[in-house]
Amino acid sequence: MSDRIEAFVESMKIRPTDRVLEIGCGHGVAASLICAKLRCGLYVAVDRSGKMVEAAAKRNQAFVNAGIAQFLQSTLESLDLGEQRFNKVLAMRVRIFHDQPDLAKDLARRWLVPRGQLFVQYDEPEAQ
Ligand SMILES: C[S@@+](CC[C@H](N)C(=O)[O-])C[C@H]1O[C@@H](n2cnc3c(N)ncnc32)[C@H](O)[C@@H]1O
Repeated sequence: MSDRIEAFVESMKIRPTDRVLEIGCGHGVAASLICAKLRCGLYVAVDRSGKMVEAAAKRNQAFVNAGIAQFLQSTLESLDLGEQRFNKVLAMRVRIFHDQPDLAKDLARRWLVPRGQLFVQYDEPEAQ
């Protein structure tokens, strides 16, 4: 388990009834940590990569089966979640938040309820 992801999720202070949207969920590591804290809440993740969506859903199959988690293939730019809104939206290491931060934050905020919270982290991955 990544300390980086654990620390980020801790900073979100997830409550059992939160409705959480993650942009760019990757392998679904944060998803597992967040879903474990939810009771009546909901976690929805989107990622532009079908492979990542599949891997994240597989990793979190129990939460999907319990109706707590949903994994969808979409870009942030083309995301359409209808009338759904969330009180917490997160994005970790999703490139558009580095390259076009204002646009990315505006796109993410569309899915927040009034006074909802956006959590973003972007740092350059270490050189190999
Ligand atoms: C570097 S990985 C980070 C994964 C995870 N959030 C983490 O911190 O370990 C970036 C992920 O975001 C996805 N992604 C990149 N740009 C995206 C976009 N515009 N919309 C949705 N997903 C995106 C990629 O497919 C990839 O799975």
